[in-house]
Amino acid sequence: MSDAAASPPVADRRLRVLVFAASLRKDSVNAVLAQLAARHASRYGAVVDLASMRDFDVPSYDSDIEGQGDIPAGALELNRRLTANDAFVISSPEYNGSMPGLLKNAIDWASRFRPQPFHERHGMLMSASPSMGGGNRGLWALRIPLEHLGARIFPDMFSLAMAHKAFSGETIADARLQQRFEQNLIAFLDLAEAAKNYPCMKKAWVEFLGEPPDMPADRIEVT
Ligand SMILES: Cc1cc2nc3c(=O)[nH]c(=O)nc-3n(C[C@H](O)[C@H](O)[C@H](O)COP(=O)(O)O)c2cc1C
Repeated sequence: MSDAAASPPVADRRLRVLVFAASLRKDSVNAVLAQLAARHASRYGAVVDLASMRDFDVPSYDSDIEGQGDIPAGALELNRRLTANDAFVISSPEYNGSMPGLLKNAIDWASRFRPQPFHERHGMLMSASPSMGGGNRGLWALRIPLEHLGARIFPDMFSLAMAHKAFSGETIADARLQQRFEQNLIAFLDLAEAAKNYPCMKKAWVEFLGEPPDMPADRIEVT
């Protein structure tokens, strides 16, 4: 087999990453962190799709609405953008020790599509908060639905404490923290890029472990 036939063109092998902050707020500190991640990922060679949570804003999940086929535009858009990318980076606020309801709601809507768009995608989680904890507890909560859906969530997460004072222009003011942020992001991009171009195994994703395998499933099939 010729080299050209053995491997896809170089352009197709570049990692495609969806980046967004799970906040609708105009002055969101998580949006600043997401923009920083997008810039560094792009500089590192990834093809970056920087989105706004506004693109994925959806009404509360309602299976009656889904049953009528009225799928909200934000759910269709989140499914489309996840599917178009190999990996995702979410910068999420922490609300009451967990993830914001709007993010969980968007995940719930997107989980209804088949193929299920989180399955086998690589994800990195980050957070920013004015608190000393940096919103890190919320990320542990966010891992649960994403891993349940078969996403490969990178073990290292980045949380920026006292975020309202942490930025200097477009970077993190503390040079060591900025370096840690870059190292964390690059380690994630390297792993996701390796998994994209050098896949060594595929893992089956089983929905609702413990339920009978022959149960009928009603889902939004995407053709
Ligand atoms: C309903 C609500 C709950 C919050 N709970 C937490 C919390 O548990 N931990 C925390 O660090 N900050 C908490 N905050 C503060 C947010 O971290 C802060 O508003 C932050 O700026 C939100 O992120 P954003 O700027 O990206 O929108 C909460 C804010 C709201 C509105």
